[in-house]
Amino acid sequence: AAVLEYDWEVGYLAAAPDCVEKMVIAINGQFPSPTIHAVEGDTLVVKLKNNLPTEGLSIHWHGIRKRGTPFYDGSAFVCQCPINPGETFTYKFVVDRAGTYFYHGHLAMQRATGLFGSLIVSLPPGKTEPFSYDGGDVNVLLSDWYHKYIYQQEQGLSSIPFQFVGEPQLLLIQGCGKYNCSLDLPPGGSTASSSPDCLQCNATNPACAPFVLPVQPGKTYRLCIGSMATLSSVNFKIENHILTVVAADGRYIEPFVVDNLDVYSEQSYSVLLTANQDPTQNYWVGVNVRGRKPATPTGLAILQYLPNSECLLPPTPAPMGPVWNDFAESVAQAQKYSAKKGLESAPRTTSHKLLILMTQNIINGYTRWAVNNISQVPSATPLLAAFKFKLWNAFNQTPPPQRPPQYTNNKHFDSFATPNPNTTHASLGNGVYVSKLGEVVDIVLQNTNTLVPNNSEIHPWHFHGHNFWVLGYGEGVFDPRNSTKTYNLVNPPLRNTVAVFPHGWVAIRFIADNPGVWPFHCHVEPHLFVGMGTVFAEGIHKLPHIPSQTLGCGLTKPTSW
Ligand code: C2O
Ligand code: CU
Repeated sequence: AAVLEYDWEVGYLAAAPDCVEKMVIAINGQFPSPTIHAVEGDTLVVKLKNNLPTEGLSIHWHGIRKRGTPFYDGSAFVCQCPINPGETFTYKFVVDRAGTYFYHGHLAMQRATGLFGSLIVSLPPGKTEPFSYDGGDVNVLLSDWYHKYIYQQEQGLSSIPFQFVGEPQLLLIQGCGKYNCSLDLPPGGSTASSSPDCLQCNATNPACAPFVLPVQPGKTYRLCIGSMATLSSVNFKIENHILTVVAADGRYIEPFVVDNLDVYSEQSYSVLLTANQDPTQNYWVGVNVRGRKPATPTGLAILQYLPNSECLLPPTPAPMGPVWNDFAESVAQAQKYSAKKGLESAPRTTSHKLLILMTQNIINGYTRWAVNNISQVPSATPLLAAFKFKLWNAFNQTPPPQRPPQYTNNKHFDSFATPNPNTTHASLGNGVYVSKLGEVVDIVLQNTNTLVPNNSEIHPWHFHGHNFWVLGYGEGVFDPRNSTKTYNLVNPPLRNTVAVFPHGWVAIRFIADNPGVWPFHCHVEPHLFVGMGTVFAEGIHKLPHIPSQTLGCGLTKPTSW
């Protein structure tokens, strides 16, 4: 295995990914941030200098478990202090499993300023994928894009009255898009010459030309599709083509075919695409918002059949996704995932059960999200250091409730009616769930309504430091007597991010076998920002030595440790 070294300088950059100039946070002057290519078993050494004059930062390596190096997970105030302006910090960790992963800023809403990229880990020589393709790999990173700066977004979210960030202006594909371009070609088709000028590949500003995916007729490609969207769940579709899904979040699954793929914030998929359609034309790749009333145009890219020109626009209208609120269809697609035979199977039983209810609440006049009535606020001291050095004043010593406090059967999950979040009394906190090393833990994530009557949203939950088995999804309220009977204990997929669908629940199982302190949160940036997350600590007697570069804030100031 190799040691890959990177020298990164993080600074502001005037970029115009959609032809509208906006300041972004860029790495080495590049937007989108550079893609990292590594091989399973490699060690990444990323030396990062913060050139932002007024902001701290941290970078999270999403999907990499960081076994033995929890202090380089990159979540600010959980495993490290933010890297101050002018400071240099070196991340060093092993990428222990092949797959499509990401990295992104993990301080407040920094990810939404463009501070994100792909981390692609390939198999080492001698290992082969359980599927074949002859065309090569294509990286397709999806994201949503706002013209409003995160500073304004953060201010609105923390104001009375609450101002939501709203829907994104557009969806970017591999960092490409064009604002205010009428993408909806007339139904029934049009010719390249009558197509909107904004989509021409030789447009005046090539910086905002559409992303082009060139293919040789007859060949099969692996697309590594990931989403870095801050709010939107998206649906990915290639006109006239079917996609064979072969991996999710870096783990192989039993392949299945779809004609459109739901991708929730910060999930990744490997899909096979065979260029087997009429090669005399090109085809649209379309990305649509899923699960929220669309107010964002379809993001478009071009599947170019070589040797056609990339300027040959497809003769058809922009592809539509499924109806935005057809959640049954989303759940049905989510249920198609099962682990590839022979992979790590889930433990048959669990030793610990948590029921987590997410509610939107008004706390002291502020609109927040809460988990079992606790709305998360960061601790000024990184929690990992607090556990290591026993800095018990750093955070709330009462762990968050194991089940919603309003439901009190302590033997099993109690069944309950969908609560009205208006009547739950939430408060701010930063307590931590503590698990014994090696313990098997089940978590049921129960969705509810938002403060808007009869409205419920998608929440993609991500666990740092772990994969978890997705045991099942259900509609309505989780029922401890019957819902567990529907669990898939035979071949549940192993994921790191799972969508909780509106008015439903999802059950996951994980093994607490990675000593460290790990965030577990909704990956919708404006939800996390107002408290939709919690933290798990495990194996706290086995925490490794913590490098001093991760310390220095809160109670870890040099005078106190
Ligand atoms: Cu990719 Cu804590 O997140
Ligand atoms: Cu959420």
